[in-house]
Amino acid sequence: MDTIITNGTIVNATGACRADVAIKDGLIAAVGNGLTAGDARMIDAGGAYVLPGGVDAHTHLDMPFGGTVSCDDFRTGTRAAAVGGTTAIVDFAIQAKGDTLADTLAAWKAKAEGRAVIDYGLHVAVTDLTGDALAEMPAMVDAGVSSFKFFMAYKDALMVDDATLLRALKKARECGALISVHAENGDVIDVLVKEHLAAGKSHPRYHAVTRPPEAEGEATGRAIFLAGLAGAPIYIVHLSCKDALDQVRAARDRGAPVYAETCPQYLALSVERYDEPGFQGAKYVCSPPLRDRANWAELWAGLSAGDLHVVATDHCPFNFEGQKDLGLGDFSKIPNGAPGIEHRLLLLHTLGVAGGRISLAKLVDLFSTTPAKLFGMFPQKGVVAPGSDADLVIFDPEARGTITAAAQTQNIDYTPYEGMDVKGAVRTVLQRGRIVAQDGAFVGADAAGKYLHRKPFAAV
Ligand code: URP
Ligand code: ZN
Ligand code: ZN
Repeated sequence: MDTIITNGTIVNATGACRADVAIKDGLIAAVGNGLTAGDARMIDAGGAYVLPGGVDAHTHLDMPFGGTVSCDDFRTGTRAAAVGGTTAIVDFAIQAKGDTLADTLAAWKAKAEGRAVIDYGLHVAVTDLTGDALAEMPAMVDAGVSSFKFFMAYKDALMVDDATLLRALKKARECGALISVHAENGDVIDVLVKEHLAAGKSHPRYHAVTRPPEAEGEATGRAIFLAGLAGAPIYIVHLSCKDALDQVRAARDRGAPVYAETCPQYLALSVERYDEPGFQGAKYVCSPPLRDRANWAELWAGLSAGDLHVVATDHCPFNFEGQKDLGLGDFSKIPNGAPGIEHRLLLLHTLGVAGGRISLAKLVDLFSTTPAKLFGMFPQKGVVAPGSDADLVIFDPEARGTITAAAQTQNIDYTPYEGMDVKGAVRTVLQRGRIVAQDGAFVGADAAGKYLHRKPFAAV
């Protein structure tokens, strides 16, 4: 054995037990009591939890968007992920119009290779299904890209029409891929944005006003309808409100293979943030926007009941100074996105487990196991079990802290969670048996992350 973690409580999505974990050659070799080996490095978990490393299925590193580029690249973003207990991400390779899917994948691999410090997979976000792109989808699955994203919003930029989405869903069904959608009605939002700007309503608060929950609910229902027509599964990203959740729940009650994700910002923050003084509300401009806080209880209920399956971050950071301020005087020009890759586990533990809303096993399920399963990485990732990668988080549930931009590893000049008190702390993070983060500091090797060749979709 190389390493043995003793004196911890192993927590999987199926439950918890007191046991040691033995690691050899980057893999979990054994889970059991009283494990010993002559020259193994011993790590004393000191009664803390030992969790599978987090899988963040929704990140945007080094992403050109809104006239600028997200300010964490694969090096800085994955360092922050590691510090927060995430050991695998799936980032979105965004197809530039006219590019092939193969070009898109190659471009994003070039961004990640030599920079990522944790393992990474890639979804391809398709913006242009003309040319050979549809025919290329099976080759992408063969290349380890078993999921594609389509935007139903961002008109005249990333948005696709229903015909495109339907064609893609049919092809995905044939080739074993999962289609995910950004479900907001982009045509309706475009009208509302233009009306508000014409009326001189340019403050960041109008970002939320012009993207109402009904526009998300409608698009979610339409996406589910199209998936039903195609006989394909579908995954709704960054679901933010009851209107959309009702559509997912109704479809699941009919037995449809519909999956959905929410994000910490929709569980922790609400629409009043847009009214912070001056232009500060721009910090929270992400899409869908923050909602009325009545949605929080709905989302937690959806997570508990199994209608929401994943909590991912949609980490898409833009500095307040120099990037968000592109939208001074016009909210529609504020680059859309918020940071969060570093704080997902802390927020889920604080609000979810310590808040009495979900069990610890459910946290592991949402944070690691189900995203690993849905995106073709299980059991390599997502579980503490023999044969899996030794991606492990030693998490102290008794520690207390406060989230601040000053203390974060994310390469951005603010955090939406500034000043929030949190329960628990990420003590030690291992990636394939190597310690990559310790007590809030990245201590791993540069460029040690590997591309994850993900398996075709299998129903969960
Ligand atoms: O505002 C957001 N969510 N920005 C990232 C791109 C997307 O829509 O996922
Ligand atoms: Zn989106
Ligand atoms: Zn996103």
